[in-house]
Amino acid sequence: MAKLVIEDRCVLKGDVKVHSAKNSILPVIAASLLTPDTCVLEEVPYLYDVDIMEEVVKSIGAKVGRTNSSLTINAENINSFEATYELVRKMRASFLIMGPMLARVGKVKISLPGGCAIGTRPIDLHLKGFSLMGANITLGHGYIEAYAEKLKGETIYLDFPSVGATENLMMAACLAEGTTIIENAAEEPEIVDLASFLSKMGSVIKGAGTDTIRIEGVRELKGTNHTAIPDRIEAGTYMVAAAITGGDVIVEGVVPEHLKPVTAKLKEMGAEVQEYERAVRVRALGRLNSVDIKTMPYPGFPTDMQAQMMTAMCLAKGTSIATETVFENRFMHINELKLMGANIKVDGRSAIIEGCERLSGAKVRATDLRAGAALAIAGLCAEGRTEIHDIYHLDRGYIKIEEKLKKLGANIIRTEE
Ligand code: UD1
Repeated sequence: MAKLVIEDRCVLKGDVKVHSAKNSILPVIAASLLTPDTCVLEEVPYLYDVDIMEEVVKSIGAKVGRTNSSLTINAENINSFEATYELVRKMRASFLIMGPMLARVGKVKISLPGGCAIGTRPIDLHLKGFSLMGANITLGHGYIEAYAEKLKGETIYLDFPSVGATENLMMAACLAEGTTIIENAAEEPEIVDLASFLSKMGSVIKGAGTDTIRIEGVRELKGTNHTAIPDRIEAGTYMVAAAITGGDVIVEGVVPEHLKPVTAKLKEMGAEVQEYERAVRVRALGRLNSVDIKTMPYPGFPTDMQAQMMTAMCLAKGTSIATETVFENRFMHINELKLMGANIKVDGRSAIIEGCERLSGAKVRATDLRAGAALAIAGLCAEGRTEIHDIYHLDRGYIKIEEKLKKLGANIIRTEE
């Protein structure tokens, strides 16, 4: 098993380029099932989660090819309707094939995603939407089976603006009969990106990026090419890393607009953030000030940046409060940060953090993807040696994080245990 080893503190300086957004690529791969034609995705990073999504679509008969960074998907022959427990348990987003499968072939059997490290994460909103659109859904033996001769457009109000439910329903609606309106839809940039891919395939979608999305169903969709938007969470992670090390880093290949919630908080903490057309420069001198954050659906502060921002709070002057409203159990990084000397108390959905001047290196464990990122950047501000175990979580969403941090001046290596 690989681990990351970080020796001593550093000041990050230089430039770093972010990869395409994992959370855009996953639904786009699923959406490729909506057409018998070939879809080509460019600039696809070699991430573990992307591999799993490739496996999922392959397992139902799609042909997937890789040439350098482009991914070719052809789902002309769908010869299975089942996504197994073995695949779905590895990645919850596998569930995103449900909408495309129901819309294209009218049938799907998929394992329940089950519990998850960051909360129970139900799928009731997805199922409620499909059933309103006319799908017949049964649950049993850990699997969901759904049938629909032809999905019908409906008005669907989501109780919570779930990203996955919005994506799944959007994809299903593209080939449904009539008009689907998704109310209280998620507004994340990845939703807009998926809508742009679906539009290029021939879908008729309006309102993506607002809370009401309107989709006119069409009879068929065609293949297309697409490059996903830059990964705003990877970018945000390097921005926080720059600020907490008192560094000066240009994060390149980003959409600064997507980073606004993180930029605003870093500025509130005293860091300087300059925005360019496709880059941001983050500089900080000395310790950051304390700040409060509350995670919210976009354009609120992203839950996927909560753990990394907590690392910054651990090192800030004074008391900060982080409130997690999106997921119910997304504080698993706290115990690990405490091992590094952080002073954090949990009160329900809030964490109260007393900043300290420096952390101390320790053996810690990446409990999930973003927790791993929080620990990696904490290691950059710790005295002595930090060892991060279970880093396969990090590989789900960050490409070569150790190489990128090393290029910025960190003393970090990946090694086998
Ligand atoms: C996506 C992102 C994930 C991010 C999250 C919130 C992908 C692959 N993953 O996950 O990185 O942290 O958005 O920005 O894009 N919920 C229900 N019922 C449902 C669906 C969701 O109660 O049917 C709840 C969840 O339990 C959770 C909240 O809604 O508490 C948000 O979930 P959702 O927006 O669906 O997140 P994901 O799409 O799973």
